[in-house]
Amino acid sequence: MNTSQSPISGKIPRHVAIIMDGNGRWALKRGLPRLAGHKAGTENLRRIIKACVEFGVKYLTIYAFSTENWGRPQEEVTGLMRILEDVIDRELGELNEQGVQLRHIGRLERLPAFLQEKVLHAIELTRTNDRLIINIAFNYGGRDEIVHAIQQIIRDGVAPEEVTPELVSRYLYTAGTPDPDLIIRTSGELRISNFLIWQAAYSEWYVTPTYWPDFDKEEFRKALEEFSRRDRRFGKVTSAEYEESRA
Ligand code: FPP
Repeated sequence: MNTSQSPISGKIPRHVAIIMDGNGRWALKRGLPRLAGHKAGTENLRRIIKACVEFGVKYLTIYAFSTENWGRPQEEVTGLMRILEDVIDRELGELNEQGVQLRHIGRLERLPAFLQEKVLHAIELTRTNDRLIINIAFNYGGRDEIVHAIQQIIRDGVAPEEVTPELVSRYLYTAGTPDPDLIIRTSGELRISNFLIWQAAYSEWYVTPTYWPDFDKEEFRKALEEFSRRDRRFGKVTSAEYEESRA
């Protein structure tokens, strides 16, 4: 059996994206306020970031606040903003020392001005790091991202026949990032929830009933191990079938 120290056997996904779901239910089960669940989820995020560095994942995208989350109670919305602020205040130095690059995907302009500045500072400070690149999806929505891309494409006067999947990808918030190889959703829900809807076209999915605060390094390892056993075909046939068809 693998221990925490041993590397993953098999291929490692270059880009892992995570829907960190179940914080609210984790808290409810313990008779705690929902924000306590988000705080526990933030602690867990530290563990998973470390594990990404250890296992050799190069890109990590986390869904921290969706364009729909504004509809949550004001106290929770403010609490999530404060968590983002605290994460930057407390963790930025260490993340930078560890060679982690921080990026933001989504609409920054609706966040309070001081928070926008903190995010921009974190992006600038870590710009040249390349050990692990973390995209923080905050005020992010997949449809909003596509609408934003279409608006920019039109503004740039791109001719219709020049619009290709590659061009669209270059106009998304994730421009320059490879599409996610693996998307993990915790807490058992079988939904995409407006997350990376363009980029997920050929991603492998891993859904676990575990709530996000409990999704620890060993659970993460299990997800990566399962990914390494998947046969990705991208709409084609397996390499074995292909060879057979040519024999
Ligand atoms: C979904 O669980 C989780 C969120 C909407 C927020 C996720 C945020 C964190 C884990 C904190 C890390 C944040 C930053 C900024 C780095 P839910 O509340 O929908 O859970 P439920 O479905 O059980 O109610």
